[in-house]
Amino acid sequence: MLVRREALQDVEPIRAVTAAAFARLGEDIPAEAPLVDWLRASPAWIPELSLVAVDPSGDVVGHVVCTRGNVRSAPALALGPLSVRPDWQRQGVGTGLMHAVLGAADALDEPLVALLGSTTYYPRFGFRLASKYGITPQHPAWVEHFQVRPLTAYDPAARGEFAYPEPFGRL
Ligand SMILES: CC(C)(COP(=O)(O)OP(=O)(O)OC[C@H]1O[C@@H](n2cnc3c(N)ncnc32)[C@H](O)[C@@H]1OP(=O)(O)O)[C@@H](O)C(=O)NCCC(=O)NCCS
Repeated sequence: MLVRREALQDVEPIRAVTAAAFARLGEDIPAEAPLVDWLRASPAWIPELSLVAVDPSGDVVGHVVCTRGNVRSAPALALGPLSVRPDWQRQGVGTGLMHAVLGAADALDEPLVALLGSTTYYPRFGFRLASKYGITPQHPAWVEHFQVRPLTAYDPAARGEFAYPEPFGRL
């Protein structure tokens, strides 16, 4: 498996991988699939931080993206969706994508990455509950799953509510 930046030809495969990863019973197309397209069309999109995992034949089997959010006036990143094609799950693809996107964000001098997700999966990548850093989610109900990963440029003065880019509000 290789991890590289998203290219033009990856748009449709990314949509398919996202839809397959998030497929739920009784739902035609999971909202996470169009979300990636909405983000790509929005000012929050950061091309350097949309990464795909490809198998040896070049097929896209996973995708991760970070987009522009903020903690009050301080820049921050929103991580997600993170998607691995079901037949490729539990083989390290998600781990590879996570390490790659966090390294890229750090290299870009981004201070902080936020996400809403499992508190058993994400701590292995350095994520901790955001409340520990004085950062709160937009909805109080998210507080138990809202996590942040401080990077090299992290500034502890960045406290308060984290704002997701606008397309997340359409979910
Ligand atoms: C979550 C996801 C991205 C993980 O990717 P992956 O390639 O399967 O993960 P890895 O192989 O790198 O790591 C596997 C480990 O992650 C953990 N893990 C995977 N999915 C998990 C989940 N939903 N909750 C908690 N832990 C999880 C397990 O501990 C697993 O270890 P194990 O096989 O020893 O039990 C992938 O399963 C996926 O696409 N799921 C559906 C979409 C989703 O929920 N995305 C994340 C929310 S934005």
